[in-house]
Amino acid sequence: MSVPARVPVVIIGGGPAGLLLARLLQLAGVESVVLERQTRAHVMSRVRAGVLEWGTVEVLRSASVGDRMDREGFVHDGVSLSFADRLLHVDFAGLTGRSIMVYGQTEVTKDLYAALDEAGVVVVDRAADVLPHDVAGDAPFVTFVDADGAAHRIDCAYVAGCDGFHGVSRTVIPSAVARTYERVYPFGWLGILSETPPVNDELIYAHSARGFALCSMRHALLSRYYVQCPLDDALDAWPDDRFWSELRARLPTEAAARLVTGPSIEKSLTPLRSFVAEPLRFGRLFLAGDAGHVVPPTGAKGLNLAVSDIHYLAAALIDALSGGSTTGLDEYSDRALARVWKAVRFSWWLTRLMHRFPDQEPFDLKIQEAELSYLAGSPAAQQSFAENYVGLGF
Ligand code: FAD
Ligand code: DHB
Repeated sequence: MSVPARVPVVIIGGGPAGLLLARLLQLAGVESVVLERQTRAHVMSRVRAGVLEWGTVEVLRSASVGDRMDREGFVHDGVSLSFADRLLHVDFAGLTGRSIMVYGQTEVTKDLYAALDEAGVVVVDRAADVLPHDVAGDAPFVTFVDADGAAHRIDCAYVAGCDGFHGVSRTVIPSAVARTYERVYPFGWLGILSETPPVNDELIYAHSARGFALCSMRHALLSRYYVQCPLDDALDAWPDDRFWSELRARLPTEAAARLVTGPSIEKSLTPLRSFVAEPLRFGRLFLAGDAGHVVPPTGAKGLNLAVSDIHYLAAALIDALSGGSTTGLDEYSDRALARVWKAVRFSWWLTRLMHRFPDQEPFDLKIQEAELSYLAGSPAAQQSFAENYVGLGF
């Protein structure tokens, strides 16, 4: 694969944000190169998010990568919250007129790779030592070393930093320019995939005295389950038997009785964090997705925020590069952050509502129970939950 010496946009990171940006640019006739640190097999096998907001579904369709999602994804009209041994169904379709799509991030990534390959977009994998240079000036460039050890330089007009929370892009923004906001939660989520029928038709977010649990799925014979666990737990402290008995103990009796167990085919631990870097722009460098902000997975917002960032950024880059105005680029950070902060708030709120905190006192537990009971009895509260979960407008 030959690497061009100059393109309008260099995209650092081949996760959903970077791949979707490359696709939207390609559809508008704007050339880009994606530089990804990992192998393609690694990127395509990472199990992550599973819920798409309707706005995300529409962006993927508009990028002509929605066909398999529409065939194989599952439209859900609501989710359930469980607490005090009861199941509260929140009817998204009835309350907001909108639904969500259950379709794994892994599949979204595969669809994007297939579309980019077909269109001949250069996606370099195993790119090492990727570094953006001179982004504060008019002539930025990006250097990297390819898998054969050859050094490259690509000159460009703009750099998109889509390299996730641990990427390099954010680190080149001077600390005098960037402001960061962070909340680290004192627990993690242990997640498993198992080839068993899901316990429920729709997702269950479970509050219990033993801690939070989530029942999700990928399809009729593939379940995705999570339990809240201590941050410093090792994976081998969680053999399958312990996982299943803990999950069962956190579900309402009626759901626990239906739970089908089996061997896990994947197991991982995710720490929970809220993080926002402001602004999302430094000169000709733009941050998008997890490179600029992270949310705890409780509200299923991480992937969806990556998509809404890219929706704004792609339109702004296309406008600027096709001889139009740079207003979209100038406004990108403020527009994206306005939406990001609302999702940060929602994810933080749902995390606080549903988890056991190590320093939690009996009073705090009573407040959680009161809030859940309020939600159960208040259509207004359910509407607020529903409109945030299905996703605020772009
Ligand atoms: P990423 O998907 O992180 O992609 C960034 C890419 O950049 C990666 O491919 C990485 O290899 C590459 N990269 C990093 N550094 C460099 C570098 N220096 N040079 C080149 N490339 C680089 N969200 C949910 O809604 N539900 C979940 O259950 C959920 N689970 C998660 C589990 C984990 C372990 C993680 C990390 C995230 C999870 N998320 C979840 C969040 C969601 O997956 C992310 O918000 C989403 O992946 C963001 O997409 P992105 O493209 O911005 O970043
Ligand atoms: C999934 C993950 C989430 O964090 C969430 O809130 C809902 C679903 C999932 O992996 O299916």
